Amino acid sequence: MRTFERAGLPRLPVIGQGTWFMGERRAQRSAEVDALRLGISLGMTLINSAELYGAGGAEEVVGDAITDCRDDVFVVTKVWPSHARAQDVELAVRESCRRMRTPYVDLVLLHWPTRSVPLKETVNGLRAIQRAGLARHVGVSNFDVAWLERLRRCEEHPGEMLANEVPYSLSERGVERGVLQEAQEHGRLVLAYSPLAHGRYSGWEGKPGLLAAARTHSATPLQIALAWTVQRGGIVAIPKALSPAHIRANAAAGDIVISPEEMAAIGLDFPEATKPFRPALPANMAMHRLAFGAMQLQKRLRG
Ligand SMILES: NC(=O)c1ccc[n+]([C@@H]2O[C@H](COP(=O)([O-])OP(=O)(O)OC[C@H]3O[C@@H](n4cnc5c(N)ncnc54)[C@H](OP(=O)(O)O)[C@@H]3O)[C@@H](O)[C@H]2O)c1
Repeated sequence: MRTFERAGLPRLPVIGQGTWFMGERRAQRSAEVDALRLGISLGMTLINSAELYGAGGAEEVVGDAITDCRDDVFVVTKVWPSHARAQDVELAVRESCRRMRTPYVDLVLLHWPTRSVPLKETVNGLRAIQRAGLARHVGVSNFDVAWLERLRRCEEHPGEMLANEVPYSLSERGVERGVLQEAQEHGRLVLAYSPLAHGRYSGWEGKPGLLAAARTHSATPLQIALAWTVQRGGIVAIPKALSPAHIRANAAAGDIVISPEEMAAIGLDFPEATKPFRPALPANMAMHRLAFGAMQLQKRLRG
């Protein structure tokens, strides 16, 4: 697994692990814990979760997976925007720590931008959890170019908000129009979410550029797709996988380095986005509360 360095950070793997849809069903709990532990053993030591996922259930899975290896893992979690008020950020992160049975989180992100709480207040709340030792680093998620501009006005120094977690895959390249460049210019880490298009990759496997690179590297097209995502540097892709075969394949993808010629050929298969990335959810509190409530209800119904 290739890793990279950033000032003030431990070495990070180029491929980490997502946890969306984990922690939703008790019957799957041990398979999910085993999946994350297999990934950790193969070097995918960055684990990405959120208080939203499984209404906290995914964080409980993470807690079980890291119980004897906490110091070897870089744990990322996210505060849902219905908790974007400064005092709510702290309460939410304390709950996340309790569920993951850890005294601190390595990186805490605001999950989505919201217009209902001044961004400055949320940034202050994130700073406060850092000062309190609940988070080593803080950042944001789903911030587009306009929201990043607002964020910079709230920062005390550029890149104080360490990371921006955004969708990035062969079929979703909107962040190449400004967001990735902003991260590079301001020293932000990018976490590439849904790097395998949330499993909707069926059309990818017959693409000639991807297939040719797969043949050259004795890899699968999906491994090349993951390697493509992190090729420009400063990016950690966070695929979610339950199947042991997928987990092994994803970890091995972290060793693949694609040549500029291969990148160009793959670029012909998957054209650049015509529009820049925009967060899909409306940035208002009613929607955020509804989404959070729905997740909690779902958890209660599933038992
Ligand atoms: N910040 C945000 O708003 C946000 C939004 C979405 C996602 N995320 C984060 O990003 C993570 C990943 O995104 P995602 O869960 O949407 O989807 P994804 O990682 O793009 O795709 C997951 C799907 O791909 C399959 N898969 C994984 N590795 C594979 C491989 N090597 N070959 C073939 N299939 C493979 C998985 O199957 P199996 O599970 O059966 O192995 C699963 O069906 C999430 O879990 C979450 O942590 C963040």
